[in-house]
Amino acid sequence: MNGADEVVNPPTAPLFLLAPMDGMSRASFRSICFDYGADGATTEMIQSLALGRAKKRMSDTFEEVLVRYPNERSLAAQLIGSVPDMMAESARRLTALRRFDAIDINMGCPARKVVGSGNGSALLKTPELAMRVMEAVRSATDLPVRLKLRLGWDEAHITAPELIRYAEALGFESVTLHGRTRAQMYGGAVNVGAIRAVAESVNIPVYANGGVTCAADALDFLRDTGAAGVAIGRAALKQPWIFDDIKRLRRGEQPPERLAPERVALLLKQAALACGHRPEKVAICEMRKFSGWLLPGLTGADEVLRRLNGVTTLEGYRRLMGDFLETLNRTNDVCVHPELLPRQSLDTVAYRTN
Ligand SMILES: Cc1cc2nc3c(=O)[nH]c(=O)nc-3n(C[C@H](O)[C@H](O)[C@H](O)COP(=O)(O)O)c2cc1C
Repeated sequence: MNGADEVVNPPTAPLFLLAPMDGMSRASFRSICFDYGADGATTEMIQSLALGRAKKRMSDTFEEVLVRYPNERSLAAQLIGSVPDMMAESARRLTALRRFDAIDINMGCPARKVVGSGNGSALLKTPELAMRVMEAVRSATDLPVRLKLRLGWDEAHITAPELIRYAEALGFESVTLHGRTRAQMYGGAVNVGAIRAVAESVNIPVYANGGVTCAADALDFLRDTGAAGVAIGRAALKQPWIFDDIKRLRRGEQPPERLAPERVALLLKQAALACGHRPEKVAICEMRKFSGWLLPGLTGADEVLRRLNGVTTLEGYRRLMGDFLETLNRTNDVCVHPELLPRQSLDTVAYRTN
């Protein structure tokens, strides 16, 4: 490359990330999202108290949570906890694996059990402790460190701007900001203006998060927040292809309709991957919820989902899905029928709040 061709400070493309989701964003599901062009992802949250104290170097449980597939082009491991020493020890253990691109700290989880022990979004109420946690992780690892948080505990305690400035001062790589308070849990309006204000006030990338329902929505959110990118959670469960849709929209193309063969193929791939690192029965039972997000709207989906409740092997899953698809292909009925869809809402995705 000669001097004239050199790019000085190339503009960074906005990134579209899969947000961490406990019980959902397992390696098998993340891998599907990466197939569809996700720019990065984060593991499910890992309890630092358990990881930091684990007697064996890595227990079987953690090995499973810590799986990373080759197509996961950028993956952060997420820690949750509020005891600085334990967060530091867990960060050291994760770093020693040499498997992750970054360590992410969870200060967003609103679940009652989690905040009851001072973890997750409870740290937004105790900014001094939150800062000690950030310092402990920062000094325990040579990996980039990221922070994921909500705006604050409630409207009276909006602490994110202060914590994000501190993250910047500590040299954190980026932050992901869910534009709601803990008091809002997963409902209510996302405060777009508050995300924009933070994104404009710091020099590290801020990824906007919360409430995206489709690709067009993600692009509006990006524009309205001026963020460096968008992290997408629940919408990806029902549309893992949302990352591909976003890229197409950005190129001025219309995203394609996702027909039955594509939906079934991705579910079969995910099931096979999941069985590679979890007990087969557990993995296949988990596929019930993923199938329940992708199959509704297809003719006969209700019956297939009902029969899926009795399936516990990969072979059985393949047979059921194969027969379903054969019928749809034979009758040339591979489109989703909007009138057969249940009312689609982000809120129908189950999450624990206790
Ligand atoms: C089932 C579920 C599990 C979640 N688990 C985590 C988690 O482990 N770590 C985390 O930082 N956020 C977690 N979140 C929050 C999401 O990452 C995200 O901030 C939130 O869902 C808002 O984004 P969305 O509207 O795009 O879903 C979880 C959310 C859901 C619905």
